[in-house]
Amino acid sequence: MNAINDDIRKDFPALAQEINGHRLIYFDNAATTQKPQAVLGPMQKYYEHDNANVYRGIHELSNRATAAYEAARERMAQFLNAPDRADIIFTRGTTEGINLAASAWGEANLQKGDVILLTEMEHHSNLVPWQLLAQRTGAELRFIPVAGDEGVLDLANIEALFEGVKILALTHISNALGTINPVKDLCSKAKAVGAVTLVDAAQSAGHIPLDVQAIGCDFLACSGHKLCGPTGIGVLYAQANLQKGMPPYQGGGEMISQVEFQVSEFNVPPHRFEAGTPNIAGAVGLHAALDYLDGIGLEAIGQHSFELAHYAKERLAEFDGIRFFGPPTEHAGVVSFVLPEVHALDLATMADQQGVAIRVGHHCTQPLHKKLGIPATARASFYFYNTRNEVDRFIEVIQKIVKLLR
Ligand SMILES: Cc1ncc(COP(=O)(O)O)c(C=O)c1O
Repeated sequence: MNAINDDIRKDFPALAQEINGHRLIYFDNAATTQKPQAVLGPMQKYYEHDNANVYRGIHELSNRATAAYEAARERMAQFLNAPDRADIIFTRGTTEGINLAASAWGEANLQKGDVILLTEMEHHSNLVPWQLLAQRTGAELRFIPVAGDEGVLDLANIEALFEGVKILALTHISNALGTINPVKDLCSKAKAVGAVTLVDAAQSAGHIPLDVQAIGCDFLACSGHKLCGPTGIGVLYAQANLQKGMPPYQGGGEMISQVEFQVSEFNVPPHRFEAGTPNIAGAVGLHAALDYLDGIGLEAIGQHSFELAHYAKERLAEFDGIRFFGPPTEHAGVVSFVLPEVHALDLATMADQQGVAIRVGHHCTQPLHKKLGIPATARASFYFYNTRNEVDRFIEVIQKIVKLLR
């Protein structure tokens, strides 16, 4: 196992650079993570040695590409503890996974009056696809409320909220608040009323251990780029029985078994949902990322990010009037805050001049921010390659900015 210490930073070429004359401090990991050489190397090797299209050829390179692509599917199944590799559908990322479930499962199974249950803290990726589905089917959207700045779900009235629910779709970890939702309990409540469940694991996959069977969800979507993998690849875990009843999401090559001029027969799942040439190099990179993360240990990764966020909150509390959003004690590696008299955009722009990358804005959770009554927060999000020294430097940078702006 790789230990989490300063040496681990050497695995990430991008972390070694200077920005505006200062050592880069990358605190925008909830948006995307940096890539280790252990991921970049296999992707380059794939293009240099094995590049070909999958399934189609009888030649050596095509066989190698197909084997690599399918090995990545197997590895992802193992990573999520999915019962079978056929439960893994490759997508472009979390957003496409949720759109796939909403379109293919949703249109075949929802009708007017059915309820789609979400939470008020959903990323737009787990909100807009359901809005589109509701518009197409006449289904109703319902929301589990978020209670105050602490950003936890208000479960007081939960039994009533589950009435008539056909699907529960919720985020595991909030990208805006760092809240870790009780997905297992909520999936079990949904099951009790016969509802299907989807977990948005964009912020939890690669950050804490995941087990789809222990969670008890039917769908789980995540993105490779948020767990040290490349952009443009992700997966939708979809429970086998549900996949069987789902019509295709997109049409094209690979997803068919027989095509006539007027009609076609479709391939078996999961291939039915993977139209066209897939992101093979992306799958190779994703596979390498999972190996790399497991080599460190997801428990240790989660603990490190949590401790840094906790430390950052302690230090940030030194600033008079700071307002935090998200749970005070149990949370992921995300700290969202607003400083009085310091516009979040100014803060991020001036931090960038000092080499510090943070995110400001509504973090793709506009309705949540409206409810909280703020247009934007500043967000620092951590991963295992970040350090306490970086947090200290971040605090120094904010001290300078606050002095200048107040
Ligand atoms: C909670 C959550 N869900 C979904 C997404 C969408 O992920 P992607 O853009 O990789 O599809 C994100 C991205 O930030 C996210 O944080």
